Amino acid sequence: MPGCKFSLLSLVAGILCSSVAVAVEMPELAKKNECVNCHAINERVVGPAWMDVSRKYLSDPMAEEKLLIRVSKGSSGFFGLIHMPANDPDGLKQAEMKVLIKFILKLAKPDTAGLAVENK
Ligand code: HEC
Repeated sequence: MPGCKFSLLSLVAGILCSSVAVAVEMPELAKKNECVNCHAINERVVGPAWMDVSRKYLSDPMAEEKLLIRVSKGSSGFFGLIHMPANDPDGLKQAEMKVLIKFILKLAKPDTAGLAVENK
């Protein structure tokens, strides 16, 4: 029956669409800068899940400045015993680091809060 085919198709489409809406991909810049070697959005790899990093700094107004220094120069002791090496030791990629940090900090924010930050 054509009707059944249609409903099966829309069921499959529904499942595909809902999983696309929930999953956040690592940005291209994170691949280019090799953050993906140690980080994922929702699970710990070598470093902490970026969602956990985002939650930790939700109420910290200085988070962006702090993280820019720590991601660029290296970080340890905030999420355990493993050290994150400097990702931009010579300061040549600060613009890219900033984009990545903004992306991370927004992950745990509800949409409205994220927009409020952007409009400041
Ligand atoms: C070699 C593995 C590795 C790579 C590559 C790496 N990280 Fe990390 N990252 C870690 C580890 C380990 C920690 C936890 C460090 C700590 O406990 O302070 C961490 C922590 C962080 C934090 C939280 C820092 C803090 O002070 O709270 C941020 C933000 C972060 N990483 C972003 C990035 C970004 C952006 C990149 C790519 C430009 C990147 N990381 C590349 C391993 C890595």
